[in-house]
Amino acid sequence: MRHIVFIAPRFLDNTNRYLEAFTKLGVKLSVISADPSAAIPAELRPPIEAHYQVASLDTEPLIEATRKLAASVGKVDRLVGFLEQLQTPMAEVRDALGIEGLDARTAGNFRDKDQMKATLRAAQVPTARSALATSRKELERFVDEVGFPVIVKPRAGLGTRATYRVTNASELAAIGAPSAGAPVQVEEFVRAREHTCETVTIKGKPVWRSGTRYFPSPLEVLETPWIQYAVLLPREDNDPTWTAFHPHNTNALTALFGPAANTAAGTALTHMEWFLREDGTSLVNEVGVRPPGVQIMPLMSITHATDLFADWARLVALDEWTPKPRVCAAGAAFFRGPPGGTRVASVTGVERAVEQAGSSLVMMRTPKVGQPRAEGYEGEGYAIVKHATTDGVKDALKALIENVQIRYR
Ligand SMILES: Nc1ncnc2c1ncn2[C@@H]1O[C@H](COP(=O)(O)OP(=O)(O)OP(=O)(O)O)[C@@H](O)[C@H]1O
Ligand SMILES: [Mg+2]
Repeated sequence: MRHIVFIAPRFLDNTNRYLEAFTKLGVKLSVISADPSAAIPAELRPPIEAHYQVASLDTEPLIEATRKLAASVGKVDRLVGFLEQLQTPMAEVRDALGIEGLDARTAGNFRDKDQMKATLRAAQVPTARSALATSRKELERFVDEVGFPVIVKPRAGLGTRATYRVTNASELAAIGAPSAGAPVQVEEFVRAREHTCETVTIKGKPVWRSGTRYFPSPLEVLETPWIQYAVLLPREDNDPTWTAFHPHNTNALTALFGPAANTAAGTALTHMEWFLREDGTSLVNEVGVRPPGVQIMPLMSITHATDLFADWARLVALDEWTPKPRVCAAGAAFFRGPPGGTRVASVTGVERAVEQAGSSLVMMRTPKVGQPRAEGYEGEGYAIVKHATTDGVKDALKALIENVQIRYR
């Protein structure tokens, strides 16, 4: 029986869905967390063989925890976790303890945006021009070459945090000077629609794909606080809009997994974000070697009549995957409101939204009065819809976004 170590930073709802999936696999399961074991939901405790609490999720404490679990439970076959920030520390633990799976060098291809783009370019995968600027001079030189606007973002960013569109010299001057110790990733600004491609690979070979579209782009959502954000997973799995991108997806994954592709490292669910320009050309933006966020896991579950959390757990723990066909369309709408204020003062239009979304509505987490304002593009609440057709989902998303209004105080 395989010994799987799952890193669950804290036992929050989303993490518990993943944890539950691992508890049902019939493996020897150990859990590492920052939370004490008392925080593990009672019903999930019995199948857990061992638990180790860490003071932080840095590499060193994780090595110590994993080593202790190996000593008490047995050789660790897989070390798994779904958070973006965990991918490099987990890879360093695998390297240190000789555990099969994604190694630190390969993890860098996914976590370091400069290394990622360089790897993609070397493999002739289309991607935006970019540079890692370590001084103001380098930043300016890049802008001279590609022209405004440019995108400036952290080298190992997530959640579109500290990501800016820079449109002129004075905005550029306002950015703190990069240094060798604190470089910034600078990229040509791509005007395009944003899509995702979720791919299951077994030893580096794609065996299943799904894809979504973002309405509008995460950057536009953050630049425009009153815009509500939606993600659409269409009914059609043979729409050329998505399938034409698949060769780039294959090439990108082959390049990023590199020599590790044909090992346990290449058995993964990846989340690729890509741009589709008006002229029909596409560019890879970035790839996470982890399950997607923004409710895409539930959306993939609904549209493929499966439990993707369980399917992912089985994939990364046991290297097993049963491809499921797509049976309907689904979408998620995220509720957010205009700028100003720190807490939700009122939420209106919910009844109308529910009525108009009708039988398409699967679930809704309504923002609550008094709730603190959320920072990111996911807002204070969300709803998930499904329909037999893509247009049915679009109508339902529109009903939600046009009716639900949040005000802050
Ligand atoms: N070169 C670019 N041209 C245009 N827009 C871009 C570019 N790079 C990033 N963006 C915008 O900024 C968003 C965040 O950038 P990116 O996906 O690279 O970073 P991230 O913080 O890791 O993302 P996430 O929000 O997916 O965690 C993108 O979804 C897109 O809207
Ligand atoms: Mg991104």
